[in-house]
Amino acid sequence: MKDKRFKEGFLWGGATAANQLEGAYLTDGKGPSIADAMPGGKSRIKETMTPEFDWDIDETKYYYPNHLGIDHYNRYREDIALFGEMGFKSYRFSIAWSRIFPTGTEAIPNEKGLEFYEAIIDECLRHGIEPLITISHYEMPLYLAKELGGWRHRDVIGHFERYARVVLERFSGKVRQWLTFNEINVGMMFPLMSQGISVKNGGMDKRVTLKGLHNQFVASSKATKIAKELREDIEIGCMIIYMTSYANDPNPVNALALQEFNNAFNYYCTDIQVRGEYPAYTDRLFAKMGVTWEDLDIHEGDLEVIKAYPVDFISFSYYMSSVINVTDKDAEKTSGNMMMGGKNPFLEASDWGWQIDPVGLRIALNDLYGRYQVPLYIVENGLGAADVVEPGNVIHDEYRIDYMRKHIEAMAEAVADGVDLMGYTPWGCIDLVSASTGEMAKRYGFIYVDYDDEGQGTMDRFRKDSFYWYKKVIATNGEDLES
Ligand code: BG6
Repeated sequence: MKDKRFKEGFLWGGATAANQLEGAYLTDGKGPSIADAMPGGKSRIKETMTPEFDWDIDETKYYYPNHLGIDHYNRYREDIALFGEMGFKSYRFSIAWSRIFPTGTEAIPNEKGLEFYEAIIDECLRHGIEPLITISHYEMPLYLAKELGGWRHRDVIGHFERYARVVLERFSGKVRQWLTFNEINVGMMFPLMSQGISVKNGGMDKRVTLKGLHNQFVASSKATKIAKELREDIEIGCMIIYMTSYANDPNPVNALALQEFNNAFNYYCTDIQVRGEYPAYTDRLFAKMGVTWEDLDIHEGDLEVIKAYPVDFISFSYYMSSVINVTDKDAEKTSGNMMMGGKNPFLEASDWGWQIDPVGLRIALNDLYGRYQVPLYIVENGLGAADVVEPGNVIHDEYRIDYMRKHIEAMAEAVADGVDLMGYTPWGCIDLVSASTGEMAKRYGFIYVDYDDEGQGTMDRFRKDSFYWYKKVIATNGEDLES
């Protein structure tokens, strides 16, 4: 059996996304992004997945938490210093596309935006932290979503390519690891945020969203090509939600439904982005969804570029698992990351209903590594919880430590199983705005941010108990997980 120990140089760190922490949504030439048009509140997904929703920003009617975020734009030095204090080896963050190209269509990039990310990168390097950049994390320029209908429009490939070229040319000398799209497979379930395709523009129509995904695959490979031409040792990853799922019972019908779910959600994008071609089950999948190959509008050269420029590694988010049950339509459901899932009586759930399942992470790692044999990187994981600040600004978040300890133990088991695991960057290493609910109350961080859902608070940062615990985990390369 292999050693359970994490390899030398294992990339312990944390992850964030520009739109959820920077704020400064129109500062220094930035244009609005789709995230800036998402109102806050638990029903933000329900409210935006309607035929009426048209990306209008109406501050008299709604509160938009992403506009201010946690003011990281002005406080990034303090935040990165805290990451450095924890001993981060890696910091995953995204570049806001609309900070570089305010509408997405300009020919010349916004220099102020580039300077901001240059400063972030330099600050990371100063603290010995290797940046891992997501080129696009749920933050397409609003103009592209409103005027072109998001990724359904072929022109967006060119706009993305121009943007990717600018940031890669500018930063690839300092940054070795990049991800093209955050959770690209979310296009299957919730295209609004991942593809900028509203219901009005076809967001409920699989013919549209799968075409959008095809455009993203082409764009991702074109960005990979640019990267590889710039720097030989650059590493490009794809990024998906991996949703470990179980068949509800031994009924073969449920086992088959599980396999179909895996093909459609967990494998479709990685099959294409790692292996460089549409998988054998595509015809069947399309037929089930009422999609034809013509709907994808594949252009000459598309399949060739996808084949020639696959990704080097797979990164994924893992928070929870789900149950597939097609034989009992009334079976209890529970909420989850970007989708509802079947309830599992063997698991407990977070306060937001996400089922906690460390063993599911070990399964995810073995499944992906067994299927692709490329290095894996867990770039999101964590527990969204409502923390309580006690006198002296201390936060006893034992529940978060417990969640992470069990997930890190599962990672170690997977390493002993033979999985090649590169790193671990838990989500929301500093409290930030939730993607699904727009809440500040749903906190993931090791660092508490004094700000609430009513826009009240000092924005001061406090170290939670998990901050000191994670620091020790990193210092011992995952050996000491005791609190
Ligand atoms: C992932 C996203 O789906 O989950 C992040 O990449 C998101 O942007 C994270 O914040 C946690 O989800 P939520 O809805 O709790 O913020």
